[in-house]
Amino acid sequence: MACDLKGRNFLTLKDFSSEEISFMLDLAADLKEKKKKGIPVDIHRGKNIALIFEKTSTRTRCAFEVAAHDLGICTTYLAEGSQIGKKESIADSARVLGRMFDGIEYRGYGQQIVEDLAKYSGVVVWNGLTDEYHPTQMLADMLTIREKFGKLKGIKLVYFGDARFNIGNSLCIVCSKLGLDLVICGPQKYFPAQSLVSECNDWCKQSGGSITLTEDIDVACKDADVIYTDVWVSMGEPDEVWAERIADLKPYQVNADVMKKAKPTAIFMHDLPSFHNLETKIGKEVGEKFGLTAMEVTDDVFESAQSVVFDEAENRMHTIKAVIAATLGNNF
Ligand code: CP
Ligand code: NVA
Repeated sequence: MACDLKGRNFLTLKDFSSEEISFMLDLAADLKEKKKKGIPVDIHRGKNIALIFEKTSTRTRCAFEVAAHDLGICTTYLAEGSQIGKKESIADSARVLGRMFDGIEYRGYGQQIVEDLAKYSGVVVWNGLTDEYHPTQMLADMLTIREKFGKLKGIKLVYFGDARFNIGNSLCIVCSKLGLDLVICGPQKYFPAQSLVSECNDWCKQSGGSITLTEDIDVACKDADVIYTDVWVSMGEPDEVWAERIADLKPYQVNADVMKKAKPTAIFMHDLPSFHNLETKIGKEVGEKFGLTAMEVTDDVFESAQSVVFDEAENRMHTIKAVIAATLGNNF
């Protein structure tokens, strides 16, 4: 079903119906096929978008840049060197950028910032990750699951770890809108807010999906199609939280034993970057300090045939292209 999303902000998937989300997935699949076949899609030639990154990124930044280029759009990257939020308020920066650009991507801290950018800029704003939500990641994840299983409804997805942050919250929203059976597994104190779960339960009534919160790994993994995890400490959190987070979440590390408890056909997903080995700067420091060799997922699972993490990463680009294409116009 075609939906007209021209002029719509993309701040959280709460704002989109299941039909609209499915439409963006269909469009992403179509754009992916066109990219593979070398068919040009530069339908927004002459437009300009700003990419604001107050937190670091590899996938999201590259996905926005490549997607925009493929659509014929020029990008301006704004990070450390800009005045935004330092010498100039968000409201003032938004009004300046709104005079120059057709759309603005924002990655950073509170959701209120991206909401304010949308309110004051008067142009389309896309959330490239806030503390609360990561909606573009969800489209990539859903496209990946649909590609692997041919459907979304009835898929059992188990998320291990801290579910109070962007990935956990966003999984609750997208799964309840699209009819997946989501299980959040970890210590109770990392469960998503009850208010969000209640809101999602209403969407589940429409979609046939469900949300289960459990501390029990066996219950969680029974008949699971997807095992999903995220880093134990998110960007912007203070270093002091590492010790408690490791103690709490280590029992919920995704390893070969956990994968064995799921269906034999289960896939492993992770939004990335991942501490599956501790060869990176931060990984090494934390690993040495706490005597770890891996964190949220072990290297054997990450590198296994069940792992689809790089399909997910590729799909960030195709899905972000769909979001930009649809919200900047309907000429496709
Ligand atoms: N998954 C994700 O958002 O990756 P980056 O932090 O590299 O953008
Ligand atoms: N929860 C992670 C997601 C990274 C894509 C973070 O916010 O750092």
